[in-house]
Amino acid sequence: MRRLLIVLFSLGLAAGCVSTSDSTETTVEPLETTSTTSRSQRTTEEPIDASGSTSVPSASGESDPRFASLDPGDPGGDAMGLAAARELGSIGDPTFPGLGNSGYDVQTYAINLDLTRPELVAETTVTLTALAELDSFHLDLVGLTIDEIRIDDEPALFMRDGREVIIRPPEPIESGQTVAVLVAYHGTPEPIADQDLPFNLGFQTQSWGTFVASEPVGAATWFPANDHPQDKALFTITISVPEGTTTAGPGQRTSSTTAEGVTTETWIAADPMSTYLASVATGAFDVSIETLDSGLVIRHAVHADAAIATGTELDTTVEMIAAFEERFGPYPFESYGILVVPEQLGFALENQTLSLFGTDIMTSPAAQPILAHELAHQWFGDNVSPAAWDDIWLNEGFATWAEWWWTERITGTNNVNTARFIPLEPLKGLPASGLFEINVYWRGGLTLEALRRDVGDEIFGQILREWSNRYGGGVASTQNFLDLVEELSGAGAADLVSQWIFAPTMPVLADE
Ligand code: ARG
Ligand code: ZN
Repeated sequence: MRRLLIVLFSLGLAAGCVSTSDSTETTVEPLETTSTTSRSQRTTEEPIDASGSTSVPSASGESDPRFASLDPGDPGGDAMGLAAARELGSIGDPTFPGLGNSGYDVQTYAINLDLTRPELVAETTVTLTALAELDSFHLDLVGLTIDEIRIDDEPALFMRDGREVIIRPPEPIESGQTVAVLVAYHGTPEPIADQDLPFNLGFQTQSWGTFVASEPVGAATWFPANDHPQDKALFTITISVPEGTTTAGPGQRTSSTTAEGVTTETWIAADPMSTYLASVATGAFDVSIETLDSGLVIRHAVHADAAIATGTELDTTVEMIAAFEERFGPYPFESYGILVVPEQLGFALENQTLSLFGTDIMTSPAAQPILAHELAHQWFGDNVSPAAWDDIWLNEGFATWAEWWWTERITGTNNVNTARFIPLEPLKGLPASGLFEINVYWRGGLTLEALRRDVGDEIFGQILREWSNRYGGGVASTQNFLDLVEELSGAGAADLVSQWIFAPTMPVLADE
């Protein structure tokens, strides 16, 4: 293989480039439409940061000339191509500059996973609409080997650079045109080590089965994605497992067939979903299903080895949903349940319609508040998702407030009177490592409590319900929240909320 050494100092074309020991050099891989050998795989420790990367991909000498505009080794020729390519490989989120892609809007992901072989064998069709004329575009995929990419059934060229897959369609895609991008791939999904927390992100394989915990950046470990909450899409997930293994996924199970020792099941989520909230699980789960009068399906999947007595804490789910519906408006999706895996996860996660729990939390006294927290995320985080990762308090602060509200109903007390006396950092301008820190949860929760005490229960309830009405199915920003507060309760209340979000010194919570 011919290798080119490219000296670069600050181009930073795309995310997560593989750095060699000499960070100014990068090795080059040839372009191909089908891969025969294992492609370079992104190691799990690299930051997802386009701005900080010092190496960029390039086509080799044999490369297709149509990729020349992406070749930073020849920057002379082309201002447009390089700048466009850099932009296309990012959605422009300052917290994770290389995350997501631009130039198109994903409509649907149809993910097919075959888990009956030693390695994952998968095919995902991403149906997307171009927002500009595209002679190339990016998807995010971490690790795994791509066998083939076809666009509307025509083979497409692609190259890989860290988590970026750069795709050159046979013909430019016109602005407004919708195409089906089929990506066939295989390999062993490698979870990403969280940069700052002791968590693995993405698709995880254990001796007992598999599960997914992606927030914030792990979705691309199992499907090619525009991996940013902003680009919501509909999902169909089809999964093949050895007969006898149970699958769980978002939305509803729409089919299950078994032939020759292989069970294939399809899960369809009827509502838009951000990539980080998409999940599947396989293993020996005990599944309980209940359909409420409203039509809402409650489906819990508890692993046979998960040490909780099914039924104890879980029985409260229906009651919790009813209480939250009163406060926040209708439950936004067609189903809800929790997945309990036999792991000490150290966290729980609000995967859409199927919150993830480990045995650690389910057997702890915190089970009930955290069940309330993850359920509340279905309204706040899942139905209304953050426009940027730095808006994470819109997820965690709201879920914390809901958790406090539920806990007080049940026990007569909550953490408000602890949190209010701790000087907690502001809620915006967070580093990637600060997304899930206590200030986001507690100062975020206190922000809503301060608003409630200021405007009163009724207007507060109106604000929360209008939040879902207006932004449900999409994303919203901190500014959108401030605007809504001002609209429904005036500039004074918006100013109070703004102090709670931004002031370096945490405001004092008014007494009730
Ligand atoms: N959103 C989760 C919660 O309910 C926390 C997720 C933490 N995950 C992580 N990768 N840092 O609070
Ligand atoms: Zn949370």
